[in-house]
Amino acid sequence: MATLRQSYIAGVGHYVPSRVVTNAELEPMMNTSDAWIQERTGIKERRWFEEGKDTTANMGANAARKALEMAGVTPDDVQLIVFATLSPDYFFPGSGVLLQRELGMKNNAPALDVRNQCSGFIYALSVADQFVRTGMYDTVLVVGSEIHSSGLDKSPEGRGVSVIFGDGAGAVVLRPSTEEGRGILSTHLHSQGEYAEELIVKEPGSNRANRLQHVLDNPQELYPYMNGQNVFKHAVVRFPQVIKEALDQNGYAATDIDMLIPHQANLRITQYVQQKMGLSDDKVYSNVQRYGNTTAASVPIALSEAVQEGKIKKGDLVCLAAFGSGFTWASALLKF
Ligand code: UT7
Repeated sequence: MATLRQSYIAGVGHYVPSRVVTNAELEPMMNTSDAWIQERTGIKERRWFEEGKDTTANMGANAARKALEMAGVTPDDVQLIVFATLSPDYFFPGSGVLLQRELGMKNNAPALDVRNQCSGFIYALSVADQFVRTGMYDTVLVVGSEIHSSGLDKSPEGRGVSVIFGDGAGAVVLRPSTEEGRGILSTHLHSQGEYAEELIVKEPGSNRANRLQHVLDNPQELYPYMNGQNVFKHAVVRFPQVIKEALDQNGYAATDIDMLIPHQANLRITQYVQQKMGLSDDKVYSNVQRYGNTTAASVPIALSEAVQEGKIKKGDLVCLAAFGSGFTWASALLKF
């Protein structure tokens, strides 16, 4: 069998809305406190979108433009868009086609939406990687973008969930690697549907006799529900497991990792994973303090910032890992 090609990340970019929302701003709204939020999650502030300016698709496009520029390609060079989000602009069509329109692409390239919540970006990256490996496409744009703030219960009833989520977007461009050993080494995807309702936005669900009536009768089901303690319990097991799976497959040890980019769910989860893997502070990237949890956008935003700050350099061994609603979890190991 012929050896498959390897894909590598040729460009990264991110965009976050300009409106900063501090914990102090949430205090009167949600009967919460800066001390509680920081102690339990590490979050100090997050971004909320601006209606009429930011959309899930155009934030993704803003991130994508930077990634395309870094990769040295134009929007019309893109042969496939893979767009990960749990907060699409429309119920249908997906945000991928809207991003294509935003970027002014005229080449009729396919646009695929991926719905795997916090693991969405790594799932999307894995899909993109397969297309490059097989030789079907040379230039694939992978985007994660989310607007949470318009769908949160901002009353005291919603505080357990609403303080953690934020808005933002990140993107990468995948191209075939031209240097031996450089690129995505492997990706690892998992799910466990028995926990589907542990972190969920139920409505508008299609399995209702009358969706609109059901939503009018049960408006609170439009808000996310999370069994936070159970999600936490599973996250701290699945993160180390899926990171180890990637390391084992490629014959590396945790000490070989130059930078771990975990999904930015909660600083306490990241600290637990760091300790479990025996990694020093400089080998784990965290920006949840500034952006909260941006689900499918969190890994590409963190990756893009780490590259921008010079914390990831060409040739570094980088591990991406995520866990979230589904439950789904995933990792990717790559030589940047
Ligand atoms: O993206 C991947 C998916 N998400 C995650 O990975 C999140 C995983 N879970 C978590 O990060 C944590 O469960 C949370 C940070 C969401 C919550 O922390 P917790 O320690 O599990 O809190 P809890 O829900 O058990 O609540 C503890 C107490 C309760 O009060 P009582 O019953 O002890 O009096 C809550 O009512 O804290 C109270 N509480 C709050 N108080 C102030 C819950 N949320 C808040 C809040 N402000 N925002």
